[in-house]
Amino acid sequence: MSNVSLITSGTSGIGKAIVKKIVTEAAADDLVIVNYGHNDEAARQLDEELSDRACRLVLIKADMSDYDEMLVFAQKVREETDHIDWCVLNTGIGTYLPFEEYTIDVWRNVMDTNVTIPAFLVKELKPLFAEDSNLVFMGSHAGQAPYSSSVVYSVSKAAVMFLAKSLVKVLNDKRVAVNSIAPGFIETRWQNGRSDESYERINRKIGAHRFGTPEEVASLCYEILNNDYLSGSCYDVHGGYDYF
Ligand SMILES: NC(=O)c1ccc[n+]([C@@H]2O[C@H](COP(=O)([O-])OP(=O)(O)OC[C@H]3O[C@@H](n4cnc5c(N)ncnc54)[C@H](OP(=O)(O)O)[C@@H]3O)[C@@H](O)[C@H]2O)c1
Repeated sequence: MSNVSLITSGTSGIGKAIVKKIVTEAAADDLVIVNYGHNDEAARQLDEELSDRACRLVLIKADMSDYDEMLVFAQKVREETDHIDWCVLNTGIGTYLPFEEYTIDVWRNVMDTNVTIPAFLVKELKPLFAEDSNLVFMGSHAGQAPYSSSVVYSVSKAAVMFLAKSLVKVLNDKRVAVNSIAPGFIETRWQNGRSDESYERINRKIGAHRFGTPEEVASLCYEILNNDYLSGSCYDVHGGYDYF
């Protein structure tokens, strides 16, 4: 049976690196389904960068902060495949608004995008998960240590990493392995606008004394997807953050 992968928010940063790793290693009869939220140009560029692929690549646009759009996305996935072997739920947004300036809509948007919609997407896709399939959620080190600069983001990432553990039980009828990844500071557009002083201050706290690359996170993700005995865990990838 062909291997079918699904990655959400897969056209930039960490998600794109994961898609590239999976597609590069894929066989001719494999299928890789990639969601993206808004940026058609980034999707077109990914398609072009992977033009010499052996497998089939399907790009599906859907705003994963919206319940109805997620339902339409799930239906499109069902039209493409009758099973999923690897699923990476990578969508995540944050806010740097001070806590005092939060509105209920700001809070709900982050929680919906990072936790609620991914949970309901799993509910929709549950019948498609193959026996011994693998599911990976993108968490964050911010979900393990409190960051005053983005309270709701930290809370949402803590929640999604606990969701991963909880789903080990929920999806056990087909022995689906569920894990999460907790990256530290990774060099993506997420870091746009960071000052040199901020880079230097953070680098001093990282054992590797540099930010990680999306490819380093993708490599870890690929290892997790390939190892059926990894389940119920959260894997750190932060270069030794906060040891100094
Ligand atoms: N970079 C870091 O330091 C770091 C650290 C810890 C965890 N993470 C986590 O890693 C994941 C990826 O982040 P990244 O650093 O790779 O950032 P990124 O390059 O900004 O990628 C974020 C992706 O999310 C998509 N997206 C945003 N809103 C969406 C929505 N409503 N529906 C569907 N897709 C949406 C974007 O696509 P469109 O533009 O097309 O919407 C984009 O492809 C996130 O979950 C983030 O929390 C990142």
